[in-house]
Amino acid sequence: MDEPSRRSVLMAGGTLGALGALTVATPARANSLWTWSPEGSVAGRGEGADPKWVWDEEADSLVASLLERGDVPKVNELLKTWTKNGQALPSGLPADLRDFVERARRLPSWTDQDKLAKAFEFNQKRGLYLGVTYGFASGMMSTAIPHEARAVYYSKGGADMRDRITKTAKLGYDIGTEQAFQPAGEMIVTCVKTRLAHAGVRNLLPRSAYWTKVADEKIPISQADMMVTWHSLPTTVMKQFAKWKIAVPADESAAFLHSWQLAAHMLGIRDEYIPKSWDEANAQAAQVLDPILAPTPEGIKLADILLNLAAFIDGGILTKHILGALTRYVLGDQIATWLKIPEEPVWDPVFENLWPPFVAVREGVLDITKAPKELREFYWVFDEIIRQGVLLVLSGANYPISIQIPTTNNPD
Ligand code: HEM
Repeated sequence: MDEPSRRSVLMAGGTLGALGALTVATPARANSLWTWSPEGSVAGRGEGADPKWVWDEEADSLVASLLERGDVPKVNELLKTWTKNGQALPSGLPADLRDFVERARRLPSWTDQDKLAKAFEFNQKRGLYLGVTYGFASGMMSTAIPHEARAVYYSKGGADMRDRITKTAKLGYDIGTEQAFQPAGEMIVTCVKTRLAHAGVRNLLPRSAYWTKVADEKIPISQADMMVTWHSLPTTVMKQFAKWKIAVPADESAAFLHSWQLAAHMLGIRDEYIPKSWDEANAQAAQVLDPILAPTPEGIKLADILLNLAAFIDGGILTKHILGALTRYVLGDQIATWLKIPEEPVWDPVFENLWPPFVAVREGVLDITKAPKELREFYWVFDEIIRQGVLLVLSGANYPISIQIPTTNNPD
């Protein structure tokens, strides 16, 4: 069937919104009013609607219809061959999906190619720290974001975390490449496919008996949720850089922000919610991210799975302890304790005492011969963690990595 049926249109266009609206009045929601002004956004204006009640209507209704028509497996298969931003879409795609992707792949008018070129310089120079912070600040933090932890745990991807990590890491990799948003790059494709995957999750998770039992929302991945996760990425990374006294010139910092603003737009976040500056980003993060961080049984299990993923390297003898200590060091005691990450009497002090001089040596601020003796012994450990981290991510990949629209939940 090519035309969406009345039922599917109703389900998509109306029901998703209506379900959300039904919960507007619940008291649990009443206590966190949305006060962040759209004047601080890249759009500079907007309705100011609370993003908890805004999803991605266009993508959500399209995917509702694809799911109902049974078109998703065919679409996933066809889209595997669509990898480059400038590449034409494969033939055989349903017309409504093709129209959507053609619109969704267009960069917004505020795209600044000079800033994107500068962002690449920054990514190149800081790839090492970006890897560690994306993995241990952003990645592990996601398990302490209740909505995200539950959505990930009960969605299809929750059944195979290594596969999920490689797919998510692809986005972190793509955004750092030279041509990220250019025709030869892949970031636009990755964002549009992720937008579709998220729309799949919005349609499917409300049908999961497991998710509905624990969730405090009727539809997952609202625009507010999207911004929370967004802040766990660039905003958190920049905070870590500042903590580690890594000097970032103003133009590089603005460029890095720009690349993530663009990513947000391409992921379907409305411009009126995307902060226009780091000051605005920090203000918004204080409102949406900091207060919601909390443990959940799902997040605790996910954190444990993530820390065990590297066990194949050494049977878990060292890796789990080192990664646990690195997580505690990066995210702090509170979050580590929530996630039930054990204290590491050997490794916690190693990071606490030796990571700052390690960074200082790498930054050329400290001469290695003048660094503490222990650092000279542990220097290779830090470097090794970074190398093994890359290996871990690559080892989980089924090439080519292809982000897909899910058709089921976990467990099905
Ligand atoms: C899928 C990135 C926000 C939950 C994905 C994928 C990427 C991604 C790259 C594809 C990986 C895969 O298929 O496994 C992002 C980024 C976000 C964001 C960059 C914000 C800036 C969120 C939020 C939630 C969420 C807020 C939940 C509250 C999920 C789930 C999947 C997914 C459940 C699908 C896994 C499956 O296939 O079952 N996301 N995400 N994401 N994301 Fe997100």
